[in-house]
Amino acid sequence: MNLIKKMLVAPAAVLALWAVTAQATTNEAIAERLKPAGEVCVMGEECKGVGAVAVAAGSAARSADSIITAHCSACHTPGILGAPMIGDTAAWKVRADKEGGIDGILATAIAGINAMPPKGTCADCSDDELRDAIVKMSGL
Ligand code: HEC
Repeated sequence: MNLIKKMLVAPAAVLALWAVTAQATTNEAIAERLKPAGEVCVMGEECKGVGAVAVAAGSAARSADSIITAHCSACHTPGILGAPMIGDTAAWKVRADKEGGIDGILATAIAGINAMPPKGTCADCSDDELRDAIVKMSGL
């Protein structure tokens, strides 16, 4: 190999090495950037993201008191617009007897009745949460 060729080969090798290193760095950087959005859950291994969602979805029903305070008492404490008052069991019993029991007035409450909006304004209440609130308010 003559001198000229040696002088050309050496820088070329350095350049090639640099290119490979640069590519590796870039791949790592891309992987790092993708990581937060692309956390992978492997079957059989703990997966924090999924666990957190499961806990949130499976959270216990809210208490009747918190539902009533937040959504029902505005009308049912003063008994405005003909709403049966909280604790006035006799008034609730008349309604329950007419509608076929707690489940009957629960159905009415879900659908809404006259001045009472559907679900008593608690749009995200489950049927069970509404039922608990009705049982608590009525004393039935
Ligand atoms: C905007 C006022 C208002 C709010 C808020 C409200 N209610 Fe009522 N509710 C009424 C009125 C008025 C009636 C009586 C309607 C009628 O018979 O004309 C009533 C009636 C009812 C009845 C009896 C239904 C029947 O079949 O006779 C139930 C059960 C009931 N409400 C449950 C609830 C629950 C549970 C909440 C809270 C999640 C709630 N209400 C929130 C106004 C309200």
